[in-house]
Amino acid sequence: MHPMLNIAIRAARRAGELIVRSRDQRQDLHIDTKGQNDFVSEVDRQAESAIIEILHKAYPNHAILAEESGAKKTGDGYQWVIDPLDGTTNFLHGHPQFCVSIALKYKDTLDQAVIYDPLRGELFTASRGQGAWLNDRRLRVSSSTLNNALLGTGFPFRIQHHLNAYLETFKALFPLVSDVRRAGSAALDLAYVASGRLDGFWEIGLKEWDMAAGVLIIQEAGGLVSDFSGGNDYFKTGNIIVGNPKVHKSILQAIQPHLSVELQK
Ligand code: IPD
Ligand code: CA
Ligand code: CA
Repeated sequence: MHPMLNIAIRAARRAGELIVRSRDQRQDLHIDTKGQNDFVSEVDRQAESAIIEILHKAYPNHAILAEESGAKKTGDGYQWVIDPLDGTTNFLHGHPQFCVSIALKYKDTLDQAVIYDPLRGELFTASRGQGAWLNDRRLRVSSSTLNNALLGTGFPFRIQHHLNAYLETFKALFPLVSDVRRAGSAALDLAYVASGRLDGFWEIGLKEWDMAAGVLIIQEAGGLVSDFSGGNDYFKTGNIIVGNPKVHKSILQAIQPHLSVELQK
């Protein structure tokens, strides 16, 4: 295993332990509001500090982009992209669907990725060119077509001015597929596409830390990733479509005629 992936796994497991241990004290947590429907608890912050401490000790010159503490720049080309707790709303409600997501980029190319679901003990990993794994099992996206696809999605609960634009994409896709899930952790949704538990996924307005690890894991599992115009600007626009190759293409074709101007990028 790549040594940097090994360190990332150690950091993700440490954060996972901390999150699971804090579940019983959920009611007593200190919670701040970052924006509409956007909460951060002390668990998010503690998990992030634990991850950064482990990464920084091993690689003091690597840059970091982390959801709760922002960007720290240094100069050797490596950058860790961290979501210490993806699915905070679920976590705060005791709803058991959340994860830790850590990716490493080298000169803007995704290199290593870990998504850890501490409740199920599921560790999704990928190293560029080496495939994607769930624990010790190699991952492969599904081979379904859109008409029998189970898709995942995310609702724009923090950017409600996108609600109508989002609903147009939903109306375009929903009649064409088997069913749609909204589970509340984008990073886990991406890991589920990589493992064939979902055939595709789309969401508006994600952040780089929601997507980075999942993107590499999907690509290494043979899936495709794009923005809403079929290009590679998903980290910039926050709008992402992923899937097995057939489903990815079909989602793009189905929603493109229904995109409002704000989503045509
Ligand atoms: C959120 C979750 C959610 C998605 C949001 C994300 P957070 O991340 O991934 O599923 O719909 O867009 O911001 O805030 O829980 O880390
Ligand atoms: Ca997130
Ligand atoms: Ca988060």
